Amino acid sequence: MKFTTKAVHKGQKPDVTTGAMIPPIYMTSTYIQEAPAQTKGYDYTRAGNPNFSNLETTLAALEQGKYATIFSSGLGAITGLVTTLKSGDTVLATNDLYGGTYRLFSRIFSNFGIQFFTVDTQDLAATEAMLKEKSAKMILIESPTNPLLKVSDISAVAELARKYGTLSIVDNTFASPYFQNPLLLGADVVMHSTTKYIGGHSDTVGGVIVTNSKELKEKIDLTRMAVGLNPSPFDVWLTSKGVKTLGLRMERHAKNSMALAEFLNTHPKVSKVFYPGLKKHPNYEVAKKQMSGFSGIVSVEFNLSLEESKKLISSCQLFSLAESLGGVESLVNHPASMTHASIPRAERLKIGLNDGLVRFSCGIEETEDLIADIMAAIDAV
Ligand SMILES: Cc1ncc(COP(=O)(O)O)c(C=O)c1O
Repeated sequence: MKFTTKAVHKGQKPDVTTGAMIPPIYMTSTYIQEAPAQTKGYDYTRAGNPNFSNLETTLAALEQGKYATIFSSGLGAITGLVTTLKSGDTVLATNDLYGGTYRLFSRIFSNFGIQFFTVDTQDLAATEAMLKEKSAKMILIESPTNPLLKVSDISAVAELARKYGTLSIVDNTFASPYFQNPLLLGADVVMHSTTKYIGGHSDTVGGVIVTNSKELKEKIDLTRMAVGLNPSPFDVWLTSKGVKTLGLRMERHAKNSMALAEFLNTHPKVSKVFYPGLKKHPNYEVAKKQMSGFSGIVSVEFNLSLEESKKLISSCQLFSLAESLGGVESLVNHPASMTHASIPRAERLKIGLNDGLVRFSCGIEETEDLIADIMAAIDAV
């Protein structure tokens, strides 16, 4: 079965009792038991809910994995994974990382004895050296990364991780399961912030973990339930609705991004364009090998002062100035003061995240309108 057929049908069965085409929202905290501990499969929504089971079936199918567990957010999903570890265990991660993920490790898990190190996972020799030195229990690869769109060779990093007994996890939020399936590339685990492309309409916050390991699935089901990382049935129902059009939306996001990247690439007011679909991108060949499309985010450095760049961002009309990405509506973001402000400036500069970087999330509007919007914003400065 092909991707969009799965997105529409897997876990999306009509309600058996009424025939309702769309399953209802099981907005319940608890379930009647016929006798003590005799349930119809659910006892309390923190542990499970029919809407959760439906979306988990859909997302496992789209990532071509066996098991999925959904969470209250993308960071909730990472928390579900990390709380399977013990104090003293080490986690390695790509050095260009979503600011919130960095903050979760550096300010929260550090209090519980989880050691955290970052490495440039584009550099296989450096990654192997760190895996060897740190005996890490997990390696978290973001690819493409937020916000610099760096691409790591997932098969190669997963193979190295296997060699050192480290669980490989890919944050696949930027690619979406439509363009990249890390489990097929050899990764042990894939995670998403479903807040982004999977939900797709900027109306819910959620996360998911997908794996082929039954043992890991059982462990993270336990941490979700025991820690209370479950989503709301309503958010999950919205995500199940949003995911049906994921393939169609991704095609448009990628078309708009490619056009924007090409337009900005030759613009005199632009000094650098970061987009893995451009042939000049340093990881273009790796991206082409492991992704079937280059997705919808373009980051840019303008030949402008910081103040001028900020003015440009605020002058956009169709690209709304907001956190997040991956929705049908285009968004623009200033990582240094918004999504990545929680990373110390010195750390940001070390990996090339400059103060002037601007990140565009291309929505599904018409390409010409989006380019005209940016042209007008550049002219306004
Ligand atoms: C790549 C990536 N991973 C994880 C997250 C965290 O997801 P959430 O905001 O759903 O907790 C984000 C959020 O922006 C992200 O961009």
